[in-house]
Amino acid sequence: MTQDMSRRAFCVAAASTLLAACGNNAQTESTQEEPVEGEAETSEPQKEEPEATSADQASGTTTSKVLVAYYSRADENYADGGKEWLEIGHTKVMAGYIAEALGADQYEIVPVELYPEGYDDCCDVALAEQHDDARPAIANALPDVSAYDLVFIGCPIWWGEEPMIVRTFLEGVDLSCKVVVPFTTHGGSGLGSVPRNVASFAAGADVRDGYAVSGTAVDGAHDEVVDWAKQFALA
Ligand SMILES: Cc1cc2nc3c(=O)[nH]c(=O)nc-3n(C[C@H](O)[C@H](O)[C@H](O)COP(=O)(O)O)c2cc1C
Repeated sequence: MTQDMSRRAFCVAAASTLLAACGNNAQTESTQEEPVEGEAETSEPQKEEPEATSADQASGTTTSKVLVAYYSRADENYADGGKEWLEIGHTKVMAGYIAEALGADQYEIVPVELYPEGYDDCCDVALAEQHDDARPAIANALPDVSAYDLVFIGCPIWWGEEPMIVRTFLEGVDLSCKVVVPFTTHGGSGLGSVPRNVASFAAGADVRDGYAVSGTAVDGAHDEVVDWAKQFALA
């Protein structure tokens, strides 16, 4: 009996914790029988300003519950052993494929302090930020992610990882109980450590397998990206 009671207490506590954590998810059934003292009162984290809900590049689908958030840098970049000049960053192109296919809103992470245009200089800054565990400031208002059930998060690979400003984003929004799907463009590193890091910095998120496209191949990757992204489309 003692064992039963402690198992039951554990189950109720575990279920309550999950429900308390995921209470704002529209897909969560309300099966909670007994609120855990103190936790029922726990309020949701403060929502960001509503005007930040859709980004400057919103797809126009106001009812969308899918958000494609990304950081991407244009300018000089690495390309197959050489350099290339980009008017539009590779990850931004990939984000556009996903958003268009799913009718999603887009949010572009824009740094307060822009990274150097030159590839080598940018590499120096990016490495220093990694070493410093920096959280570079974001210029545009963070989106109100409470409106979304599914959030794609995209970035280039910088030194094997996400640019540190992506961590600023992940720590600045509440992605708990959301399905979060990473994607990257890269020069050979694939997803790098991005999925692991996203899981670590997006507390409580349900992080799914990500997808990586070589930056220089992104222009021809529309169909494969769309095929992949559509598996996450909401019913
Ligand atoms: C600062 C910096 C560091 C990079 N480090 C890597 C790396 O470690 N591995 C890799 O595969 N590509 C690396 N790249 C290449 C980019 O990941 C690749 O060009 C990507 O497609 C750029 O995406 P974007 O145009 O959206 O910024 C690096 C590029 C920059 C600018």
